[in-house]
Amino acid sequence: MANILGVGIATLDIINHVAAWPAEDEEVRALAQDIRRGGNVTNTLVVLSQLGHHCHWAGTLADDASSATIRDDLVQYGIDTTHVQQIPGAHAPTSYIALNAHNGSRTIIHYRDLPEYDAEAFRRIDLQQLDWLHAEGRNVEALAEMLKHARRQCPQLPLSVEIEKPREHIEQLCGLADLLIYSRHYALHQLGAEAPAVPETAADTFLRQQRQRTPQAVHVCSWGEHGAYGLAPGGELRHSPAFAPLKVIDTLGAGDAFNAGLIHARLAGQGLVDSLHSACRLAGDKVGQRGFHGLPTTQALQD
Ligand code: FRU
Repeated sequence: MANILGVGIATLDIINHVAAWPAEDEEVRALAQDIRRGGNVTNTLVVLSQLGHHCHWAGTLADDASSATIRDDLVQYGIDTTHVQQIPGAHAPTSYIALNAHNGSRTIIHYRDLPEYDAEAFRRIDLQQLDWLHAEGRNVEALAEMLKHARRQCPQLPLSVEIEKPREHIEQLCGLADLLIYSRHYALHQLGAEAPAVPETAADTFLRQQRQRTPQAVHVCSWGEHGAYGLAPGGELRHSPAFAPLKVIDTLGAGDAFNAGLIHARLAGQGLVDSLHSACRLAGDKVGQRGFHGLPTTQALQD
């Protein structure tokens, strides 16, 4: 199994399951509540760890009680937290989330005063033993430095970056990774008013634009209920359908589980189509349950 380093955030997620999205100024009762650790990269690491990989997290925590809860959760999943930067006096980033049981949407209000991981701390990590480095596309300037450093130190180390939200200068990260994982939200934002209405055409147009900018990388875009699309250097558009669970229970972090499935599949040497399938299956498993514990639930990725 592989040694994987993830760079990104951990949060405390306070999740209210609601029957429907409330009107402004309305008071509603939640059907259920979960309080758990979240954050894209740590969600991905928790799934990768359950797939048998040795996972390490490079991120920041504060020194409050919620940060202790977050660290305990990661330790419980066997994730190495020795590279964590602890920042005194700040608070654990907190997401207040409404999960709409009616349509599966998840609305997030995120609060943070915690600084992001810095490039200096990253340079202290020994990268030589790693088989994969995955980063959340945020904190752009520092992350660009980290990726350049990793490339210089370990030219063969596969680097993946998740580009989920349009952020200032985020395109500069695209040239620094081998595998780029975009969200539909980002793709549609980039296509703007000209976005084709048919998902496959939109994904194809977007991914080809990205490949033109960064021809040597593999570009993947998840597309919700339409599955995911991918483009390898010189290849045709590849697609996997989504694998919807019998009942949609919890969509929060479906993209993070998708990323874990993709990384796991690429590490196992799978081609692009099979990797997209694995990733979509894992995302489907995740949507069918609360949280990330016990993933994957189907056989697809377990061998
Ligand atoms: C899900 C998630 C949550 C977190 C939020 C941060 O993808 O990582 O766990 O609160 O997104 O943006």
